[in-house]
Amino acid sequence: MKLCVALDMDSKHDNLSLLESLKEYDDLYVKVGLRSFIRDGYLFLDEIRKIANFKIFLDLKLYDIPNTMCDSIDEIIKLGIDMVTIHASSGREAMNSIATKLSKVQNPPIILAVTALTSFDDSNLFEIYNDSLESCVLKFAKLSYECGINGVVCSCFESKMIKTNIGNDFLTLTPGIRPFGESVGDQKRVANIKEAFDSKSDFIVVGRPIYKAQNPKEAVKRILNEIKRVSNEI
Ligand code: C5P
Repeated sequence: MKLCVALDMDSKHDNLSLLESLKEYDDLYVKVGLRSFIRDGYLFLDEIRKIANFKIFLDLKLYDIPNTMCDSIDEIIKLGIDMVTIHASSGREAMNSIATKLSKVQNPPIILAVTALTSFDDSNLFEIYNDSLESCVLKFAKLSYECGINGVVCSCFESKMIKTNIGNDFLTLTPGIRPFGESVGDQKRVANIKEAFDSKSDFIVVGRPIYKAQNPKEAVKRILNEIKRVSNEI
């Protein structure tokens, strides 16, 4: 299970300072989301690379018509990033063409599809999809798998069900992690590291519990140790 640190801070300077403090952990995934990508642009990715050999996860959650999504993926490939997200609700045609495109690229980024946002609970998901969370998430996961997408973004509460129904090689990335009981904020379906590991999550995303900690480097160190502990590596 790998840690992705969300770079969701108020300024580029803050995000880069956070990364400076984490540079000894250069096998981390760092998550550039909409906020920093809109504000700081693609040149921000080069600034990250100058600090350390972090893996870059571009979490743009693309959702559009198939042609626009495919053209955007072409541009994303040129950025040389390691992982990117789209929405599974963009549908079969978009996901099929993106997966086909990526299969022809050397060293393609991992592509993950968002099932249901972890800020949704049963009732606000039902309002949109007229379906239960579990059924909706599994439907999106199966569709993504059929299209050749590498895995999905889901909560720890659905990760195991997805692995059981689809297979362990289909990746799950789980946000909504509160490693040591930190405040939940707007997240509805949260889990700690042991729960994430037990749910067979491949990647956990942690934002506020790291960048709002008094000592973010110490928080990352504790999280990495906890990952090793629950994986029986120490
Ligand atoms: O601060 P926190 O740990 O809650 O941050 C979670 C990060 O994961 C945020 O950047 C958020 O946009 C992202 N995310 C999420 N739920 C999803 C997909 C992404 O919380 N389903």
